[in-house]
Amino acid sequence: MKTNVLIIGSGGREHALAWKLAQSPRIGKLYVAPGNGGTRQVAENIPIEATDIDGLVKFAEKNEIGLTVVGPDDPLALGVVDTFRLRGLRIFGPTRTAAEIESSKAFAKNLMSEANIPTATFKIFSEYNKALSYVRERGAPIVVKASGLALGKGVYVCKTLAEAEGALAEIMVDYAHKEAGNEVVVEEFLDGQEISIHVFCDGKTFVLLPPAQDHKPIHDNDEGKNTGGMGTIAPVSWVSADTLKIVGEQVVRPTIEALTKCGRPFSGLLYPGLKMTSTGLKVLEFNARFGDPETQSYMRLLKTDLLDILEACVDGTLAELAIEWNSGFAVCVVIASGGYPDEYKKGVPLRGVAEAERVSNVVMFHAGTIFENELKTSGGRVLGVSATGNTLRDALNSAYEAARLIQFEGMQYRSDIGAKALSTT
Ligand code: AMP
Ligand code: GLY
Repeated sequence: MKTNVLIIGSGGREHALAWKLAQSPRIGKLYVAPGNGGTRQVAENIPIEATDIDGLVKFAEKNEIGLTVVGPDDPLALGVVDTFRLRGLRIFGPTRTAAEIESSKAFAKNLMSEANIPTATFKIFSEYNKALSYVRERGAPIVVKASGLALGKGVYVCKTLAEAEGALAEIMVDYAHKEAGNEVVVEEFLDGQEISIHVFCDGKTFVLLPPAQDHKPIHDNDEGKNTGGMGTIAPVSWVSADTLKIVGEQVVRPTIEALTKCGRPFSGLLYPGLKMTSTGLKVLEFNARFGDPETQSYMRLLKTDLLDILEACVDGTLAELAIEWNSGFAVCVVIASGGYPDEYKKGVPLRGVAEAERVSNVVMFHAGTIFENELKTSGGRVLGVSATGNTLRDALNSAYEAARLIQFEGMQYRSDIGAKALSTT
């Protein structure tokens, strides 16, 4: 029996998920809502926004969708999983209350402190004056975060007290992130390398994916503003099997148990962002969904049928499934619009994509692209050039060879994806 699948979202992550699901021998019709200029190559794009829950439910019912896969965080926070389940529709992802582990940093921090999960010391504020006194008492460096979802822009890593005061004013006085800033988390600055852990969960069983590393700041050497993510590598060789075991036992298991205990069992994908500090690993944040651009690397390495895994997570049968990975490395280099993560131009024609796709071991995942007679930019992160290789260096060489063939006005990408890992190993 074939299964019709609907993927919700429009980024590189969703293109990578669609690319992998399209290879399943059990896939029926594959749809992406709303999709992008790349997803149309492997699936049918449906013009329904990711946050239009009613529209998505109606589409799933009418088109006999056997599995819906949620890409981004905002439909999860709106309760898309709860709504689909109430209608008897199968959907991969956590319920609204379980997804609060991502959509409320205050909830996540409180849960971590109750469950003894290592994380930066913190305080939560809803009054500006109290937050300001605390920041002045602690001094810089310090990190100020809007608690709610803020398009990845609600976190301020402040090197000086003036920056921290500015961050508080932006969130709590200017209301820059609207109600996402009703609560503010002020926390200790953590030094060290950052890694992304991804975990498949079915509510009881959990399985870790290989470790990945994202590169968040816009410029080389981790300079400039934070973005959604400018490039990834997987696996990260210096993260040992023993370290992963510690992550499983000190972070993942207690988090899943604490969520179950408070009536919010988690199924779907749990993605803790970690810092490897000199005093041990610490959780920076939790996401309740696949990472972007981590997924663009993971899908290149995954051997097992993704449909089998996603269905096992939904059906509670993950313990029965062996998940296999290809050997070697996968990387993704993100090509962004000029100006991103601030203002940028849209509708800029793209050149060289077909040539870049011909580089061996390269698969192009689209993010902010749209096809209107020709391929044009439609977002900040435009393309994810993914490549595999027997070594990390091979994979990076292929990705950069392809990236150099792409041309559009204002384009920018980091030239040092994977460099930290190469110098650590
Ligand atoms: P978050 O959305 O909470 O992961 O924050 C976005 C980014 O800000 C992270 O990926 C880190 O690079 C950085 N960051 C967040 N919290 C801290 C912290 N306590 N110390 C240092 N950097 C942080
Ligand atoms: N890789 C960053 C994110 O997905 O949030």
